[in-house]
Amino acid sequence: MNRDEILSRIAAAPDLGALESLRVETLGKSGSVTALLKSLGQMDADTRTREGPAIHGLREAVTNGIAERKAALENAELDRRLATERLDLSLPAPSSPKGSIHPVSQVLDELTEIFADLGFAVAEGPEIEDDWHNFTALNIPETHPARAMHDTFYVEGDGHHVLRTHTSPVQIRTMQTQKPPIRIIAPGRVYRSDSDATHTPMFHQIEGLVIDRGITLGHLKWTLETFLKAFFERDDIVLRMRPSYFPFTEPSAEVDVGWSMEKGRRVVGGSEGWMEVLGSGMVHPKVIANCGLDPNEWQGFAFGTGVDRLAMLKYGMDDLRAFFDGDLRWMKHYGFRFFDVPTLSGGVGA
Ligand code: PHE
Repeated sequence: MNRDEILSRIAAAPDLGALESLRVETLGKSGSVTALLKSLGQMDADTRTREGPAIHGLREAVTNGIAERKAALENAELDRRLATERLDLSLPAPSSPKGSIHPVSQVLDELTEIFADLGFAVAEGPEIEDDWHNFTALNIPETHPARAMHDTFYVEGDGHHVLRTHTSPVQIRTMQTQKPPIRIIAPGRVYRSDSDATHTPMFHQIEGLVIDRGITLGHLKWTLETFLKAFFERDDIVLRMRPSYFPFTEPSAEVDVGWSMEKGRRVVGGSEGWMEVLGSGMVHPKVIANCGLDPNEWQGFAFGTGVDRLAMLKYGMDDLRAFFDGDLRWMKHYGFRFFDVPTLSGGVGA
């Protein structure tokens, strides 16, 4: 091979593998150019002076030619990858996104937003609760019929742990760990052994608790009215408080909200009929004392309501069990988009 042949074969090498073979053939240990370089040593001084520059020139040309071709092949390879692995970020988003926000999550976000605006912080407690927090401290002694009322799931073991039957134990945990004034909501899962169209063994509640000086039923009613108006996004929400009984509140009131018929559907607002939405009352002095606070100094109100039920009333589902079936068609119908973040100014209704 003469110089031109070598250089043109290098320039035409189809890929990096072929180029490497050519390098070995020419510049490798037993390559042709290496052989020429070696032959310089055997030449006499005159011949070396004559041939030397051409041989060194050849080695330089081959070395440069290989480097050049290598860069060109590597660039071509990069271009090919860029072309095949291209992501077009300007493509429109898929018309039906795969996931959605569950109505329970959405409603929990709505409630948190509403109560945060009223100055309430979010508190939490464990779902596996001991019977002191779930019952005793809430003024439900062991022999009290209210324990049976709750269809409690008992946890195997020491006999003192239950799946919490309501979010009210978070009242206790909060009063034990925070100094009044206290304004908290406690959303979360609760468990009762019950199952039909309006009951599931696990469901969601949200608890509210205010402890301060001079708190009255008036504060409770205003808070509930303000919350329900914001949640249902209607000003014509009418509340009715009925005397009731809970061991941990005194006096206790069940709260009904008025409904009316709109286009053949029962909607919240007006007062054609009533439905129960909340349990509430003034925190029992014994409960306050059980948490180590002086009931003569501190008073408060508490309320509790079903989050899933609130979702059903607001968004029109009729079977609670479907909330927990995980059926994607149901989620597609009732789920929310990721960007439907509830805000008071934007409307918590999404
Ligand atoms: N814990 C009660 C229930 O689960 C609701 C409630 C909470 C009532 C707070 C009064 C005060 O039914």
